[in-house]
Amino acid sequence: MTKLAELDQSNSTEMNLGDATFKANARSILSGWATRPPFYVFNNGPPQVIVGRYADVYEVFQDAERFASQMPREPGFEQFDKFMGGEVITQLDGERHSRLRRLLMPAFAPSRVAQLESHISQIIDGMLDGIENGGREFDGVTNYAARLVVGALLTAMLDLNANQTRILLAFQEATPAMTTTKPGEPYPPHVHAAYKDMANLIQQIVDNRRAHPRSDFITDLVNARDKADKLTDKELFDQVLGILAALATTPRTGAGALFTLFTHDEQRKRLIADPSRVPDAVEECLRIAGNGYFTFPRIATRDTQVGGTPILKGMVVRPSPQAANLDPLAYVDPLKFDIDRKPQRIMTFGSGPHQCIGNVLGRKTLVLAVRQLLARFPDARLADPGFAPEYGGSVGELKMKSLPMLTH
Ligand code: HEM
Repeated sequence: MTKLAELDQSNSTEMNLGDATFKANARSILSGWATRPPFYVFNNGPPQVIVGRYADVYEVFQDAERFASQMPREPGFEQFDKFMGGEVITQLDGERHSRLRRLLMPAFAPSRVAQLESHISQIIDGMLDGIENGGREFDGVTNYAARLVVGALLTAMLDLNANQTRILLAFQEATPAMTTTKPGEPYPPHVHAAYKDMANLIQQIVDNRRAHPRSDFITDLVNARDKADKLTDKELFDQVLGILAALATTPRTGAGALFTLFTHDEQRKRLIADPSRVPDAVEECLRIAGNGYFTFPRIATRDTQVGGTPILKGMVVRPSPQAANLDPLAYVDPLKFDIDRKPQRIMTFGSGPHQCIGNVLGRKTLVLAVRQLLARFPDARLADPGFAPEYGGSVGELKMKSLPMLTH
């Protein structure tokens, strides 16, 4: 059996996978990964293999037996446990994963999303009213994209009050600290506090829906059934936690879409003239400016190889959907933004057994957000045409901090 030391050390790169410099240069770094065979990073916790070419990323996503999602729960792997021990669908494998997926699926069915659509659209209109009433200046992230969770998804799906929303956002803000925790170190105290508040909040919501069922997303989960099977209380809790955390992907992609559209004036004007093109344009935004550069990590269950790079059992494998979306073998001239491209099979929502269960809702929310913003403010623009975004968030996420804009 090959040992770590016997791997080709020249195929390794020393890098901090989550710092501000990395994020500021993410586009060009990922574009490099898109044509590079899988390579090793040894200086960032457990030995990792970064996978960026489209065909390689696809292979890792599809083969859940070789590349499992359930990470070791042991010292050294703290940075990969975003849910502090919670067993969330994204990090389960095999029948346990398939069973949860069957139970959750009805809450995400297109008919359910269609029911949410008009509510989300109304809420977005209210957000635009707020921007209109606030004067000419606004922030495309804090006043709009970020509010797609607080304002739109949470209200339409869960009907949370202001205090409950604050707890959820505090939890989302705490997750980056988990992903930068050094091997063997405890999570910082504010992370534990945020988790505790979040756990109480979920319990409150679930108890409330049990006592007063209504036609909403959590009630669907409380009632989720597959024949005689149903979610246990612990499973329900863990899945609500995971889904609430997953909501944050929509603002991140929303901010990416706004920045992309508002740095391509001619294409944006064509969209304003013909809003029926918005879904195709959003798909292209999702390709070129996705949610971040990693999904959840995988762990190799045996010695294997991908794209010619040996991978040892127990190594952490990190597929990058954003790099795959920039692979010239998958998309011609990949760095060019083109609303007529109609990109097929983008990796932004993953692929294979864990492909995003909320993709219809995420896509729909972004289409509404872009369409309604362009219709309301056809002369909107970036306050500074040369603006260069800064990004924060967890390792693997590109969370734009702000996007100063003008309504006209
Ligand atoms: C534009 C927005 C979104 C993006 C870019 C996105 C991206 C992703 C990706 C890449 C995965 C696969 C992760 C992996 O394989 O490791 C995933 C899974 C998942 N997403 Fe999303 N997502 C979005 C919106 C949503 C929404 C709105 C929800 C829920 C309301 C959601 C719920 C989930 C769940 C539950 C999974 C786990 C599925 C499984 O493991 O079987 N996502 N998402």
